[in-house]
Amino acid sequence: MPYTVQGVVARGKGQEVSLETVTVPDPGPGEAVVNVQACGVCHTDLHYREGGINDEFPFLLGHEAAGTVEAVGAGVTGLEPGDHVILNWRAVCGQCRACLRGRPWYCFATHNATQKMTLADGTELSPALGIGAFAEKTLVAAGQCTKVDPAAAPAVAGLLGCGVMAGIGAAINTGGVSRGDSVAVIGCGGVGSAAVLGASLAGAARIIAVDVDDRKLEWAKGFGATHTVNSRETDAVEAVRELTGGFGADVVIEAVGRPETYKQAFYARDLAGTVVLVGVPTPEMTLELPLLDVFGRGGALKSSWYGDCLPSRDFPMLIDLYLQGRLNLDGFVTETVGLGDVEAAFAKMHRGEVLRSVVVL
Ligand SMILES: NC(=O)c1ccc[n+]([C@@H]2O[C@H](COP(=O)([O-])OP(=O)(O)OC[C@H]3O[C@@H](n4cnc5c(N)ncnc54)[C@H](O)[C@@H]3O)[C@@H](O)[C@H]2O)c1
Ligand SMILES: [Zn+2]
Ligand SMILES: [Zn+2]
Repeated sequence: MPYTVQGVVARGKGQEVSLETVTVPDPGPGEAVVNVQACGVCHTDLHYREGGINDEFPFLLGHEAAGTVEAVGAGVTGLEPGDHVILNWRAVCGQCRACLRGRPWYCFATHNATQKMTLADGTELSPALGIGAFAEKTLVAAGQCTKVDPAAAPAVAGLLGCGVMAGIGAAINTGGVSRGDSVAVIGCGGVGSAAVLGASLAGAARIIAVDVDDRKLEWAKGFGATHTVNSRETDAVEAVRELTGGFGADVVIEAVGRPETYKQAFYARDLAGTVVLVGVPTPEMTLELPLLDVFGRGGALKSSWYGDCLPSRDFPMLIDLYLQGRLNLDGFVTETVGLGDVEAAFAKMHRGEVLRSVVVL
């Protein structure tokens, strides 16, 4: 019997989200239905409802979630009802050119559920990032479920499903931050603060948090920032250079997703340093840079999709570090809210009042 649940749906570009009745099919071969226990509100959900990702409305939003497995479909192994899982949007295929070269964190053919969840009238929903977890239950590919230690509260664990993993991974995986490095992070929301935390975990000696909001800068200190720069008041590039002996940081992580902050990242970086773009731009944005500077400054310009994470490797490892008291994941949960509060959470995110609002079910 299909499940009838409540879920948060974006019906059209820029329209306020609404709570709708959603039909979740029984899991088919290779699929699983998950009881969502918690789901963080990520800026990418807002991008979806503003039409910044694609036009495949209506979207079932939410993609930063943890829960327990309700049921699995035929042929699913290694996952059973009751398992505590974090949902991921990188269920690696094992067959594509990236997987076959031993780089599954780039997998180009990740798995999602084959069946569709629908509105009561049968309209097919597009689940955000193939997850759709602002709902009491959701249908995913079994590979999108990563088992973790149930001792971590779902509101905290779920954050690893997107933003916090993207930020930590931007530092430790994509940026390759290591002991003694200088790191600057531009934009210290949920993702950028996680990049600060990742840099700290990796042993960076100097971690410069840059934001236009003093609240975010204060929070960034709690994740390991050694210096903060309010770029509304101070030139970010000059400030980062000053704090790094006049040279710029070894790794600069851009966690806003705008051309002007990308340029700051580009020039706030030392020669032969690395820029990591983890913020997601929108389709109309373009970037202009002198090609001579691209050449002359050397180094690497990288983008970080989901922190180049491998969920099966990284989620359990980070949960273990958290349970040992070595990773401040609690600091990301600014508030817990209900399923009906997502629109209000978007507004708080917009006003900069939260790192993460987490929907708890
Ligand atoms: N690459 C990925 O896999 C991935 C995953 C999740 C989210 N994201 C993206 O990361 C970005 C950040 O997401 P979030 O959830 O942290 O959002 P957020 O709204 O919580 O944080 C954005 C931060 O940027 C700051 N900011 C805005 N304009 C700025 C400027 N000009 N200079 C400096 N700081 C500025 C804001 O004050 C805020 O603190 C979004 O674009 C989101 O879509 C990417
Ligand atoms: Zn693959
Ligand atoms: Zn996200």
